[in-house]
Amino acid sequence: MNFYKYDNVLLEAEDGIGTLTINRPKVLNALNSATLQDIGDALREVKERQDVIKVLIITGAGPKSFVAGADISQMHNMSVVEALNLSKLAHNSFAEIEELPQFTIAAVNGFALGGGCELASSCDMRIGSNTSKFGQPEVGLGIIPGFGGTQRLTRLIGRGKAKEMIATSTMITAQEAYRIGLLDEITEPDQLMDNAKEIAKTIMKNGPIAVAMAKYSVDRGADLPLDIAIDMESQVWAETFATNDQSEGMEAFLEKRAAKFSGK
Ligand code: HXC
Repeated sequence: MNFYKYDNVLLEAEDGIGTLTINRPKVLNALNSATLQDIGDALREVKERQDVIKVLIITGAGPKSFVAGADISQMHNMSVVEALNLSKLAHNSFAEIEELPQFTIAAVNGFALGGGCELASSCDMRIGSNTSKFGQPEVGLGIIPGFGGTQRLTRLIGRGKAKEMIATSTMITAQEAYRIGLLDEITEPDQLMDNAKEIAKTIMKNGPIAVAMAKYSVDRGADLPLDIAIDMESQVWAETFATNDQSEGMEAFLEKRAAKFSGK
């Protein structure tokens, strides 16, 4: 089902799995303002359509690139104010990914550079193929990562590796990305989407509210002092006992049958 059409992204849903495809293959899916706006609009649709989208996969159109960064042809003449607005637009859209109740998987089908690496870093997990390439090439353009790269990448792979990637602006292979924890899985290129869908199906067997609350707890707690984070986890954990999914999940176990979660 292709239920929303935007100029620069495609949003489809099938069997509970949503796919958001950044769709500017002629420029390797570079992100201009219109595309960032479309991503934000599509994500708001995804949030409202939890009935048909349980897990969201984000990928790029064509065989070559996930997203080759922010659109350099748009950026090259920008003023300081325009640069700030572009960065805020991306921050708003990428924050929508983290705030979605649905789990998100970046299926990195080629280049994930600059804003593309930052988009992938905003997802809950990243899978790639052995042709995926990651990099933060901004300093080579005389700028710094401005779509979260100095922050989310650092939280994913640590300060040393993040600073190395940013300061050298060197592209790294999928294998190196996997080694440093930027990629969670690597597959053959022609199996990338099937693999992403298999992961989505495995997640969808579980209680959707529990998945959303676990995502919230991991993300919310990551930047809190441990004692406060642990306390927050207790509260969120306890709240799951207000759901039908908790009763159903535990009854199903005790009755030795598969749980039928209602998401209530
Ligand atoms: C605009 C881009 C682009 C980009 C590729 N294209 N990346 N256009 N912005 N980021 C266009 C090319 O101009 C070209 O258009 C077409 O896509 C195909 O790209 P080629 O360069 O011909 O392909 P190839 O030789 O295979 O090289 C692939 C590549 C290279 C290594 C990915 O395109 C590249 O280095 N791109 C720029 C990567 C980058 O620096 N990204 C970071 C941007 S800064 P034509 O018309 O010639 O066919 C950033 C900052 C984020 O993301 C924060 C901002 C606030």
